[in-house]
Amino acid sequence: MKAVQIIELLASPYKEKISSQNSTTNSESSKDFSMIEGIPIFLVGDTQQNFYEEFYQSQAEPWAYSGRAAEVLRHEYVAEQVKNIYQEKGRKLTILDLGCSLGHITERLHPYGETIVGLDISLTAVAKAKKRCEEVVKGKDNPYQFIVASCLELPFQENTFDVVIASDGIWGWFVEDTEKSKKAVAEIYKVLKDSGIVIHTDYLHPRKFAKFVQLTMSAPFQLIKEEPMYDRLWYRLESWTKSLQGFTWIKKLLANVGFAKKLRTLARLFGRNYSKHISVIAKK
Ligand SMILES: C[S@@+](CC[C@H](N)C(=O)[O-])C[C@H]1O[C@@H](n2cnc3c(N)ncnc32)[C@H](O)[C@@H]1O
Repeated sequence: MKAVQIIELLASPYKEKISSQNSTTNSESSKDFSMIEGIPIFLVGDTQQNFYEEFYQSQAEPWAYSGRAAEVLRHEYVAEQVKNIYQEKGRKLTILDLGCSLGHITERLHPYGETIVGLDISLTAVAKAKKRCEEVVKGKDNPYQFIVASCLELPFQENTFDVVIASDGIWGWFVEDTEKSKKAVAEIYKVLKDSGIVIHTDYLHPRKFAKFVQLTMSAPFQLIKEEPMYDRLWYRLESWTKSLQGFTWIKKLLANVGFAKKLRTLARLFGRNYSKHISVIAKK
């Protein structure tokens, strides 16, 4: 099956905006919509958009994910959850990766997705994610579509996605569980199909894990599981070695996924407080 084009997934009036842009030559873009290099951009008039756009323009890889083993393991973990859903459903999925950043998770999803949409509030991030994912599939059965929009106003039709990933995340973007976070959860609920699954993760203190689960459940989801990621020892090590990070051997240690796995195994022995990330998986 071929990936569905993004226009087919959009709700009114977003769909009409793309259509009018495609059908008129020399048309002036509307104030809140434009298209650059095939990427639809819905401007949300949110100060956050400028903040993240400037962030991505000023840094090649914000959060330096690829050199930090706990983050690599986290991306692997999220992709593994999608793989489980794919195996359970027995078919390829329609997936939304919300806040896709440079596509570190998105690029891992192509074996499980018929249509995979990467969405971020920053055009610079989305353009880089698009390039990265297209390089992974090398033009063969490309399932990827990208869009710039906000999780506070998802431009998709209701009941569109089998899986929505909201990974690091709604909690952090809106500073804990404000009304905005709840609005984003409600938007996810809206665009998921019946029986669709949300994978919601974030970085926070373990004493707030219960609050995070409550945030996810602020929409009427059924909780499937909540799981700590047992990554606190790794973050401790990173913070203890902050002043030494100019040394190559420290950089190598922090990038070593095998070592991060060992720390994770050790952290499991100490229990859920030895985690900085939590993952909540819930069903519509
Ligand atoms: C901390 S990064 C997480 C990236 C990736 N999902 C991961 O798990 O590694 C957060 C991302 O969310 C994006 N973002 C922030 N506010 C957003 C919003 N309102 N709507 C959509 N994306 C947003 C940022 O541009 C950034 O790329």
